Amino acid sequence: MLAARITGVGRYLPERVLTNHELATMVDTSDEWIVERSGIRERRIAAPDETSSTLGTQAALAALESAQVDPADIDLVLTGTCTPDGMFPSTSTLIQHAIGAPHAGAFDINAACNGFLSALHAGAQFIATGSSKKVLVVGAETMSRIIDWSDRTTCVLFGDGAGAVVLEPVEPGGPGGVVSARLRSDGAQADLLYVPGPASARPDGAPQPDARLVMDGRGIFRSAVTAMSREAERVIVDAGLTIDDITLCVPHQANLRILNAMAKSLGLPIERVYVNLERYGNTSSATIPIALAEATAEGRLQPGDRVLFAAFGGGLSWGAMVMEWSGVRTRPDLTIPELSAATASTAL
Ligand code: ACO
Repeated sequence: MLAARITGVGRYLPERVLTNHELATMVDTSDEWIVERSGIRERRIAAPDETSSTLGTQAALAALESAQVDPADIDLVLTGTCTPDGMFPSTSTLIQHAIGAPHAGAFDINAACNGFLSALHAGAQFIATGSSKKVLVVGAETMSRIIDWSDRTTCVLFGDGAGAVVLEPVEPGGPGGVVSARLRSDGAQADLLYVPGPASARPDGAPQPDARLVMDGRGIFRSAVTAMSREAERVIVDAGLTIDDITLCVPHQANLRILNAMAKSLGLPIERVYVNLERYGNTSSATIPIALAEATAEGRLQPGDRVLFAAFGGGLSWGAMVMEWSGVRTRPDLTIPELSAATASTAL
């Protein structure tokens, strides 16, 4: 079996910044409440002509450049998304066309916020069997399109963005690659976080409800901490490692309190957990590849390091992975933006 390694990373964020202060003019909330409860200070909102596939395309092109891979050589495009451009065709096929990858198969994976990690695990299997040689794995979301902007309990948490990686086989005797991975789900807790229709749950002829996110925040919080910590512990054991061997954890970015609690439960100093949710909020499937692109640009991962991924989302769906880092080239123009001082108010 061939291990899969990441050879390129990229990310794309829409330009429009929506700060907590601006949100406080839209719903009954405050910057203090949002920062204290979540750690989020601002998020990005897609322009009217942007979609998950257009964000994903920009991230994919950046990842391909980082990997120095010609799109024509990509043989599979997998996109984790729960905000596809439409019910079909898949967002992956739209990205496949937009990047110019005529020889690639393409399909989406919807595991809510666990979509990217699920797609990464699936892509690694295609590499491991020899079925694919170069796989593009994307996480792309426009959460702003499924948020109820009058619901202060959810609208303060989410944002839009995309990230992508290129997967290739580990060279014989070379470093890097997936060491261990696990995915889990529990549909019994589906009502903790969901987006109703338009979908097949509506009887024929019944009006389709708007696609608006519904969440039990406290329930999600408890489950997220327990599930991510437990799965992370398991993949570390599977890899024959201990927490001390993990250089950096790049987790799903939902809430700083969740990350602090998970780090504490794992015995991992928070300094070894990459956190950028203050700038982007929860971009669902896009959080891990965006964070990975920024972590590499900051020099937080070197060849031979072990990186731990952990994700959790609606479904419930969660997972974790340990990967030995083999090093990537990051684009010189990938700079980490400062928090904006203030943003002009624009109607959503
Ligand atoms: N601004 C001000 N007050 C608010 C807001 C807001 N935006 N939202 C809720 N409140 C109020 C509530 O109405 C409540 O008021 P009450 O006491 O008068 O009834 C009070 O604040 C406390 O509400 P709680 O829901 O108990 O607050 P909590 O401390 O649990 O924080 C939060 C809420 C931030 C949603 C938290 O539960 C959480 O982060 N949960 C995880 C949710 C999550 O991350 N979801 C993302 C998707 S899943 C994933 O990606 C992991």
